[in-house]
Amino acid sequence: MWRVIAAVSMLLVGGFNAYFSQRNHRKQGKLCIAGAGPLAGAPHLIVRELEATDLRRGFLELLAELTTVGRIADLDFRKRLRQLRDLGLVKVVVIHDVNDDKVVGAGTLFVEPKFIHHCGSVGHIEDVVVSSSYRGQKLGSTLISTLMATAKSCGCYKVILDCHESNVPFYQKCAMEVKGTQMAAYFNN
Ligand SMILES: CC(C)(COP(=O)(O)OP(=O)(O)OC[C@H]1O[C@@H](n2cnc3c(N)ncnc32)[C@H](O)[C@@H]1OP(=O)(O)O)[C@@H](O)C(=O)NCCC(=O)NCCS
Repeated sequence: MWRVIAAVSMLLVGGFNAYFSQRNHRKQGKLCIAGAGPLAGAPHLIVRELEATDLRRGFLELLAELTTVGRIADLDFRKRLRQLRDLGLVKVVVIHDVNDDKVVGAGTLFVEPKFIHHCGSVGHIEDVVVSSSYRGQKLGSTLISTLMATAKSCGCYKVILDCHESNVPFYQKCAMEVKGTQMAAYFNN
């Protein structure tokens, strides 16, 4: 009962970030991603949250392997990162190769608070990409398991994502299943 009252007060007073931080990372005493740290067997590959300095580590070039990124000035990148942090509902996970000082993998979790399912939350996985020269080394599945574990630790009752047909086998290997049909409307602005 007290845990529920504490959770609700934190949501009302400090927003989701405080709730997130307190509930999931009580032990560490700070907000972090479930399963962050060096990879077993490849300690030069570090799983962690996106940092402002990742701009010079090729974060945008990595995203460009997924889709159109456009020109993003340093200032705009920092501003967007600050917005995401303030929002407290989005976690961008990266894999940093410290030997090359490059970001070689990335994926995003958006936690959507809902009314349905007893005010439950749904995790949306977005923008998953592994640098082409690092593919086939289980970095993609590491990203997905990290995002899934983070969603679970945040109390999400499910995680969902949209993907191209050709990536279905990859996500199935990450313990996900095909469910429903994607709909989209694009705006030209
Ligand atoms: C999809 C992607 C993230 C996979 O990353 P990866 O690091 O190569 O994947 P992993 O090494 O973790 O693969 C895990 C398993 O899935 C399999 N797999 C990966 N991609 C696959 C695909 N497109 N089709 C079938 N199987 C695939 C691997 O062979 C491996 O199988 P195994 O466990 O039997 O060995 C990567 O190919 C990528 O960045 N692609 C371009 C961007 C993209 O399409 N992102 C997804 C957006 S929805």
